Amino acid sequence: MCGIIGFVGNPGSDQLRRILIGGLERMEYRGYDSAGMAWLEEDGCIRVVKTQGKVADLDRALNGIPVKGCVGIAHTRWATHGPPSDINAHPHTDQPNRMAQIALVHNGIIDNASVLRERLRQEGREFVSETDTEVLAVLIGKFLEHGDDLVTAIQRTHALVKGAYAIVVLLKRGTGQLVAACHGSPLVVGVGEGCTFVASDRLAFVGTAKKTLFLEDDEMVILTADSYDHRTLANQQVERELVELRISLDAIAKGGQKHFMLKEILEQPTVITNTLTGRVIDGPEPRVHLGGLRTKIEIGGRSMTIGDFLQNHLERVVITACGTSWHAGLIGERMLEALLGLPVKVVYASEFITGFTPINNRTLVITISQSGETKDTIEAARKAKRQGAIVWNISNVVGSTLSRVADSGVYLHVGPEIGVASTKAFTAQIVALALFTLKLVELRNPAWVTDTRRQEIANALLALPAQMERVVADAKHARDIAFQFACRSRWLCRCFKYLAQSRTPRSVSWLMRLIGASNALYLGRGYNFHAALEGALKLKEISYVHADGYAAGEMKHGSIALIDKRMPVVVIVPEKGEDEETYARVISNIEEVAARKGRVILIASEGDSNPEELRCGGKVERILWIPKTLAMLTPVLASIHLQLLAYHIAEMRGCPIDQPRNLAKSVTVE
Ligand code: M6R
Repeated sequence: MCGIIGFVGNPGSDQLRRILIGGLERMEYRGYDSAGMAWLEEDGCIRVVKTQGKVADLDRALNGIPVKGCVGIAHTRWATHGPPSDINAHPHTDQPNRMAQIALVHNGIIDNASVLRERLRQEGREFVSETDTEVLAVLIGKFLEHGDDLVTAIQRTHALVKGAYAIVVLLKRGTGQLVAACHGSPLVVGVGEGCTFVASDRLAFVGTAKKTLFLEDDEMVILTADSYDHRTLANQQVERELVELRISLDAIAKGGQKHFMLKEILEQPTVITNTLTGRVIDGPEPRVHLGGLRTKIEIGGRSMTIGDFLQNHLERVVITACGTSWHAGLIGERMLEALLGLPVKVVYASEFITGFTPINNRTLVITISQSGETKDTIEAARKAKRQGAIVWNISNVVGSTLSRVADSGVYLHVGPEIGVASTKAFTAQIVALALFTLKLVELRNPAWVTDTRRQEIANALLALPAQMERVVADAKHARDIAFQFACRSRWLCRCFKYLAQSRTPRSVSWLMRLIGASNALYLGRGYNFHAALEGALKLKEISYVHADGYAAGEMKHGSIALIDKRMPVVVIVPEKGEDEETYARVISNIEEVAARKGRVILIASEGDSNPEELRCGGKVERILWIPKTLAMLTPVLASIHLQLLAYHIAEMRGCPIDQPRNLAKSVTVE
């Protein structure tokens, strides 16, 4: 949460503002309740401009102010200490206005801020904001007053604070330098021609910096326009190679779509190919190739590869993650249990940190995280390692903190996911878990998984991109159905306008009939139960419509009481051929909802499913079809409809889809 950036270079006039605002815009997914910028003016004094609101508001606030200079810092905030306000926005300074010796931007939380603030107050120091960050600024300022240089002042501050931080500090009359440091929050350096950056995310400098390197915990960097001095906070020099920054500007643009979320939903058929490429080696005996399995580890003093560990030592799997990634973990649990017979437990990372999950050196802990920067999941990985487990990480962002903390793992390779609602990462996580499961089958060879079954799974994985393409091509149906959720009288005008634009007049009658949904239920059994949880989360987080996901069979134990003629119920129906019993049970659940006049929308598989039977005598309002696949992969296809449904509902309700209220893409606080 919070995006920070620092830049040193020789930009032409007004370029500093463009560079810093551009960087903030690309990190706005990390927080968007206030924003600010600080730079050195010609006389060497620090100028700060900050405001409550989005980066665009900051940009407006800068109109008419000459932002000239070679060095600057900026921040986009997700409030923790103190509500969003102009005063609480970053940068923070050690003293007001032109008296300031430093300005500082911060991502993280200082746990002992109130104790330190009190101590500093007693020494006569003043605070203007409610933030923990100001404590850092005042402490650094105090050490500077005592004669320390900036590096020493930061090191001494580090020794006093508890918590997590990544900071970038701008010094009054500094000679074209910035100093940045981190402990528990991410920071990455970017090096371009005649300029250097430091930021929370590499996206901030894509297009300008050519090379990057991640800082590890307790490291700092001193940036000038053409050099960087990399050391630990204990002043040891660090030699770490820069790596090429391989993200294109196209990958971080909306690609002609109105929102990142829509772009990311629609590109799933293409990007999922990257998750699969080179990993399923087709043939009569299909093989899975996961490079990370060759990583060497030590178990009880013996050196072995992770592949050996999985084959000969593994007794138990624990999967830990948050939010959408946790839903993917539940699907992984089912795959591993069904195909390997291994005991698997899925734990929210936030619960894992404080709970008592039995773990030893025969346990594999799988961490799943799109960003690889979710604080809870990182702490869970660290705890698992302390307890002797081997940690296998599934994430999308190459070089992210989790990928460095874990022993090894696999990347999704689906390109930057910028919309706050996770979409393409979710489907890719399921695919990565399926690949991992198939690899374990290959290594452990359980008697009940025949070669034919292995072949079926490999074929089903390879068929996914084309099948996803077909679901995406059907996207307009989800938009039609969205009306029945979204339309309440106060949104009627907007909906009619939307209908007119979308040229689907048939839906007008639906609209009239179905006004009033403000809650929704999502039901499924088995793998589709977890898809239902994810469908409900998508709707909640971007449209603010309350939704719950349930195991379809569990509905009768409580939530059935909610069903009336205004309740939309989305049911994900399994394919009939693979498991006729479950299919029949889900049909009964649909009947139960319909009997109480719930408004049933189905996501069902083509193939053996009988459309007439599915319509339950006309009681089902709409069916969204997905191509036939294996039960374990149904959530991949069903999720595209669920994501589109949530997207269109949010769009009709006029919600800020890529930046839902109170949320941030990377949750870097516990
Ligand atoms: O980057 P991560 O996968 O670790 O993020 C975990 C959750 O914060 C994330 O999935 C969140 O729930 C999304 N907003 C869901 O759309």
